[in-house]
Amino acid sequence: MAMRLKQKIEQKFDEEIRFIKGWIDKPKHVGAILPTSAVTAKKMASIANPQSGLPVLELGPGTGIITKAILERGIAPEKLVAIEFSTDFYQHLVKAYPGVNFINGDAFDIEKTLGDQWAGQQFDCVISAIPLLHFPMYRRVQLIDKLLDLLPPGRPVIQITYGPVSPVIAWPDRYQIEHFDFIVRNIPPAQLWIYRRG
Ligand SMILES: C[S@@+](CC[C@H](N)C(=O)[O-])C[C@H]1O[C@@H](n2cnc3c(N)ncnc32)[C@H](O)[C@@H]1O
Repeated sequence: MAMRLKQKIEQKFDEEIRFIKGWIDKPKHVGAILPTSAVTAKKMASIANPQSGLPVLELGPGTGIITKAILERGIAPEKLVAIEFSTDFYQHLVKAYPGVNFINGDAFDIEKTLGDQWAGQQFDCVISAIPLLHFPMYRRVQLIDKLLDLLPPGRPVIQITYGPVSPVIAWPDRYQIEHFDFIVRNIPPAQLWIYRRG
């Protein structure tokens, strides 16, 4: 029991060190200073529907806390595609979550990053932790619009952010915005937003 607790603490400490190192190397890309909390990760993963038979698309898995929550939701590893920009995080993820389809690339260049293997693929939903606030608004809107093209009508893109308002402005002809949750048990407290079509 004490041994398991010690291992858990060591693993969490290791993840935080890896995250802070990533932040020091590329603060603009990593965004937050600490990994997402388990509570937030579980809430984000709750939008995935394991019964849909479609793969889930994750953006910015970082240390893999949200990846873990998606797998715990009942999504099989081979039904998860996760795009991570940082090669350091990517290499760690491939070892830590065998069977998950990790891609080391840029979510903003989604078609090229998904490549031939996933061309024309529909996904169940998108679960995103990429730091949108560091990018201009037109790129954020373009990204959400392109991501929604990959989903059946009505299925969600969920995005974590730390500001008080939606990180993506309204475009009622193309998508609807819904405030999903505000999570205090996260450092810093996190807002979850959902974008969907139809
Ligand atoms: C705020 S961190 C969240 C990481 C993870 N969810 C966690 O809590 O450990 C943002 C992550 O998005 C990745 N990222 C940033 N820009 C990206 C992009 N354009 N495409 C893919 N990943 C990106 C960063 O490398 C980082 O791992």
